[in-house]
Amino acid sequence: MEVAGAALAGAQAEQKLRELADTQVSLRRLAMLIARGEPPEAVFVAVTKEVLRQFGHGIASVIRYEFDGTTTLLAHEGTMGPHVRVGQLWAGHPPTGLTATVLRSGRPARTDDYHDIPGGEPYLCGGLRSAVAVPIHVKDRLWGMIAVGSGQGSLPPDTEQQMTEFTDLVATVVANAHSRAELMAARARLVSASDEARRRIESDLHDGAQQRLVSLILRLRLVAEASSEHGEIRTEIEDVAAELAGVIDDLRELSRGIHPAILSKAGLRPALRALARRSAVPVVIDVRVHNRLPESVEMGAYCAVSEILANAAKHARASVVEVDAEALGATLRVRVRDDGIGGADPVRGSGLVGLRDRIEALGGTFSVHSPVGCGTTVSCELPVMAGGGYPDADPAE
Ligand SMILES: Nc1ncnc2c1ncn2[C@@H]1O[C@H](COP(=O)(O)OP(=O)(O)OP(=O)(O)O)[C@@H](O)[C@H]1O
Ligand SMILES: [Mg+2]
Repeated sequence: MEVAGAALAGAQAEQKLRELADTQVSLRRLAMLIARGEPPEAVFVAVTKEVLRQFGHGIASVIRYEFDGTTTLLAHEGTMGPHVRVGQLWAGHPPTGLTATVLRSGRPARTDDYHDIPGGEPYLCGGLRSAVAVPIHVKDRLWGMIAVGSGQGSLPPDTEQQMTEFTDLVATVVANAHSRAELMAARARLVSASDEARRRIESDLHDGAQQRLVSLILRLRLVAEASSEHGEIRTEIEDVAAELAGVIDDLRELSRGIHPAILSKAGLRPALRALARRSAVPVVIDVRVHNRLPESVEMGAYCAVSEILANAAKHARASVVEVDAEALGATLRVRVRDDGIGGADPVRGSGLVGLRDRIEALGGTFSVHSPVGCGTTVSCELPVMAGGGYPDADPAE
């Protein structure tokens, strides 16, 4: 009997070791997925599959607790029933079931027999008998839970403890996604705060200094007319008025550099065409943007084209620059290509680096392709948030 006992213990230990090794393989697979930067939704699906393979003999799910007290089923594997709708509200769960119990206690919970749970019939009909759920805490807040269910009697007593490694993994993925989203939002806030300040300066210049200069010119012209008998004084006053008109032009040019009024008034298409007209290098331009886009997106694209055209004039020795912009679906694509000397290197200045920052802050992508001797192509893609578009002020422009 001792020998038989020892053999049994040995077999059990071997089985435990095999399970442990299996769990490690599962966790490594998931870690690789996370390291590859897969989106959280894909990780939830993969975790659910692995958890079912490891612990469940029926179902596995990832559920999120929302701030408004509802719950959402994020991923589900195994037996399906009418109550299972992935991506939707996880409603109708029994008040003494696992979803409600984990929400109340913030701790792991188990049901050894759904016959004992009032309202547990849908689970029994789906072939389940027992289940275990383990909470997912993100930054000290109960974020959700992973549940596994079995149709073959109660789950082993160490299931809760073993599942913790999987809930920790999900918590890390969610925390990372939150941090990334917060960082993106902070960068976008910085960009829009500086745009707002530039717009204020532009409008102060326009409504303040420029207007006063314009009325000064008018007054000078009146004085000049009134002093027609003093030829020399009249000429002098007219010269001063002409000088002042030049100052206004300079001021207008300056405020356009600070914030282009045409962009806010008329939209991207006319603003880019105005940039092309003023470019020192000839520009072939094709803008297929017929609706107004969110302000930050228009400003991002405008700044990009403005800086790249300036670069082409300063550094490229190009004979022509092509500017293409197209809003297609939820993306604005901008590409500027010159036929100059190439060899652009963002490290040597601040223009291209600043652009990359601005575009990425808007969730976009930015790339420079500039082999020596073969011209320079700069491409940007900007996501256009839904609901941000409204008809162009002047589509005919
Ligand atoms: N179209 C281009 N053709 C050739 N070289 C370029 C081109 N654009 C940029 N470069 C090179 O890459 C460097 C970096 O460009 P970037 O715009 O970042 O800085 P910059 O134009 O020198 O200065 P800043 O934009 O800060 O006024 C430039 O100094 C230049 O040497
Ligand atoms: Mg530059």
